[in-house]
Amino acid sequence: MKPVLAVTRRLPDAVAKRAAESYDIRTQEDDDPLTRAEILALCHGADAALVSVGDPIDAEFFDHLSDSVKIVATFSVGTDHIDLAAARKKGVIIGNTPGVLTDATADIAWLLILGAARRASEGEAEVRNATWSSWRPTHLMGTQVTGKKLGIVGMGRIGQAVAKRARGFDMDIHYYNRRQLPADQEMGATYHDSIEGLLPHCDFLSLHCPSTPETRGMVNEDFIAKLPDGAIIVNTARGDVVNDQDLIAALKSGKLTAAGLDVFAGEPNIEPAYRDLANTFLLPHLGSATVETRNAMGFRALDNIDAFVAGKDVPFTV
Ligand code: DGY
Repeated sequence: MKPVLAVTRRLPDAVAKRAAESYDIRTQEDDDPLTRAEILALCHGADAALVSVGDPIDAEFFDHLSDSVKIVATFSVGTDHIDLAAARKKGVIIGNTPGVLTDATADIAWLLILGAARRASEGEAEVRNATWSSWRPTHLMGTQVTGKKLGIVGMGRIGQAVAKRARGFDMDIHYYNRRQLPADQEMGATYHDSIEGLLPHCDFLSLHCPSTPETRGMVNEDFIAKLPDGAIIVNTARGDVVNDQDLIAALKSGKLTAAGLDVFAGEPNIEPAYRDLANTFLLPHLGSATVETRNAMGFRALDNIDAFVAGKDVPFTV
């Protein structure tokens, strides 16, 4: 008999195929967000669970989780939807998928930088809605990216990949990280040992820090005030790193030229004011959404479960 794997969301075909070879898959018919109770029901008597970003894997989940489930693998590198302390208390191993979504996420950060700077939402809407009247010298003038200053908060794998791409745009790159990187990983960027020190050097600011008690709400009025007037913020990290009301106020007042956002607090129920602003470029958390990357993430999640089931060390755990 195969071990039973509870899976909360539809998997990419290649990942689903591999999962079905080794496990009896217990999942939902559709691809809807499941409640805690629904996930717990899927997990009842299962050997392992494969969950996704946004699933409520919180303390209450672990309080009621079937004792048969000893590993929860998440289809993500981020684990902010999981109460890690509660998992530890219950003796459940948490697997995640670091390392395989670096390039896809850096690419999306660049899509946001370019889309926000070049008013891509407004332009695309004109073409789609047939409201494009003519070429004219002042039509949808945006902000030049090439040669500007780029600030990166969090110079891990993704921050470094964003910096690498920025070199192709001749940007002057600055970063804040808990520790300075060795010179060969810095990509010629200038290190700042505090965020306050970094902010005045950012025509563009790209966020690449995890959501932690220290970073939640970090991008607030004080933070934004330290950026140059007219700066552009992009976020591919986590939505709750931003104080939505303060960011929206800065976008309305013109303190910030634009924002490019792929992640939001309370996804998918985002702060509605973002939709009404012309100077936002918005995506529905697509950072890792390429076939190649989603397959790699799924395989990594399965590697974690396979190792656990085989009594080996789980390769990627938090
Ligand atoms: C992750 O893996 O945490 C990403 O946010 C998914 O795109």
